[in-house]
Amino acid sequence: MTSEFTFELLARDGLARRGEISMPRGAIRTPAFMPVGTAGTVKAMYLEQVRDLGSDIILGNVYHLMLRPGAERVARLGGLHEFARWPWPILTDSGGFQVMSLASLRKLTEKGVTFRSHIDGSAYELTPERSIEIQGLLDSDIQMQLDECIRLPAERSEIERAMEMSLRWAERSAVAFGSQPGKAMFGIVQGGDQPDLRVRSAEHLAAMNLKGYSIGGLAVGEPQSVMLAMLGETLPALPVEKPRYLMGVGTPDDILKSVALGVDMFDCVMPTRAGRHGLAFTRHGRINLKNACHAEDSRPLDETSECPATRDYSRAYLHHLVRCDEALGGMLLTWNNLAYYQSLMAGIREAISAGRFADFAAETTEGWQKGEA
Ligand code: GUN
Repeated sequence: MTSEFTFELLARDGLARRGEISMPRGAIRTPAFMPVGTAGTVKAMYLEQVRDLGSDIILGNVYHLMLRPGAERVARLGGLHEFARWPWPILTDSGGFQVMSLASLRKLTEKGVTFRSHIDGSAYELTPERSIEIQGLLDSDIQMQLDECIRLPAERSEIERAMEMSLRWAERSAVAFGSQPGKAMFGIVQGGDQPDLRVRSAEHLAAMNLKGYSIGGLAVGEPQSVMLAMLGETLPALPVEKPRYLMGVGTPDDILKSVALGVDMFDCVMPTRAGRHGLAFTRHGRINLKNACHAEDSRPLDETSECPATRDYSRAYLHHLVRCDEALGGMLLTWNNLAYYQSLMAGIREAISAGRFADFAAETTEGWQKGEA
């Protein structure tokens, strides 16, 4: 395995790209879906299962881990990989996005953000430098700059202010990160729903010659058409030879449409959170196991799947578990959902290599439209 962080493009089909990131802890086949492991755990899953489903990398969050158990403590315990027993790559989000959605008494200045923990109200400060320091203590392989994400709709002046400050934070983060050959720090493109601001942000970050680029500030309240239009504006301004990561996205349909525009990496709580709430993603579309129509349905979610959760349990049993709020319901549906997402990504990669991505996307979408099977 390589001692450097490298990205190789293996095939292209239209704007869609198949590639591979190599780094000391392992390879990441792209387009990749990265399950969210907020607090060092992909909720309701054993990490062995997550790996077996084809996940090359998982996510962790600065915000959650700095509050509990604390970054210095994780470092003393050997880093996040050792602590959680996941020896493969980990990507960490920088914290700003979670501070804005979870913490209280937030105060944002040029220096950084101060806030109070949503757990016990204690006070913290996160600066671009401290976020990179925390990501280093966690021993994260792919680190994110601290940024400010504006929820949409928003005033252009507010979007521009946050985007410009995020660029200055990118510069400070890059200095704090320095040179770490086997690891990467990604800059985050902001600019809301304003095409020219998106392009300005992407061009500035591109000129910094970072190892990869994240696209933030999307799927934050705008319609899918706006998200796709912003990707269409942003991606051409980023260097072709570097990986592009669309943060916090999305549904299987969002993923197919974003891959078509040239996105390489995704993360989202959708499959794990929806699973804990009784929703299954399948080849036949979404199935809400809470619905009474499943109460006596002895069919599995999909008899052709290789995932035991999908193939071996009746919809009636899953419905029963969900109705009784049993832990196993969330476990089986999360397993099914991550299996579906990772099989979708494998199908996407294979189709790009075969030059038939558009057909694959059309067939996949048609399968969902058959509705609740
Ligand atoms: N997760 C989803 N969107 C964003 C974003 O804009 N910034 C960060 N840091 N994380 C995100």
